[in-house]
Amino acid sequence: MLITIDGPAGAGKTTVSRILAQRLGFRYVDTGALYRGVALAALAATIDIADDHGLEKMLKSLTIGFVVRDGVTRLMLNEQDVTDKIRSPEVTMAASAVSARPVVRQHLLTVQHALGSQKKAVFEGRDMGTVVFPDADLKFYLDASVEVRAMRRFNELKGQNRQSISQVEADIRRRDKNDTTRAVAPLRAAEDAIVIDASDLSAERVVEEMLTHVQQKYPETRG
Ligand code: DC
Repeated sequence: MLITIDGPAGAGKTTVSRILAQRLGFRYVDTGALYRGVALAALAATIDIADDHGLEKMLKSLTIGFVVRDGVTRLMLNEQDVTDKIRSPEVTMAASAVSARPVVRQHLLTVQHALGSQKKAVFEGRDMGTVVFPDADLKFYLDASVEVRAMRRFNELKGQNRQSISQVEADIRRRDKNDTTRAVAPLRAAEDAIVIDASDLSAERVVEEMLTHVQQKYPETRG
């Protein structure tokens, strides 16, 4: 069984996907980390994000993937653990920009399909239910108001950077615009996705709601 969770930045997808995967005994795959990894590699190699040839060349020699160490999933780039480097505001904005490049999306499509070949997984991203896994068994679209998402992200980042709440909100609005208006695989809910508005719901509550849908469709997952 393959479950997809799409939605905008800061809606709580990561927390919810992790808990849901844990409750079901499934793997959890954060596809945003792959875009962040490509962005980090492009920044390190000083490749212009609009330079498709440069990106393509870089991607050809890049190995990207996950390893699980001590129960924690780590992102590996060319055998280097970059997990702690991909959450900075700079990489975050660059990830949003590289994710609009068709050459990057095409490359990561192959990577994601390979990761999805073993089922029993929860895939989190922007186009999981629409493009990467259109035949997924269960699709969720997790949304929340921009104010709530900005506040959550601000609380998460506290101590890690010096952005004010209004800067965090402005970044989120910019990423929403990038993610929803790009030509290839824009962020939107799949027609058959179950939409959950998490503005007033805790992560636990969202997971309970998702589990209800999972168990309704697949009674064998109860218990
Ligand atoms: O979920 P995140 O914030 O870690 O994602 C980082 C960026 O990657 C985000 O701006 C949108 C992009 N992304 C995407 O285009 N498609 C995905 N499946 C996952 C992320």
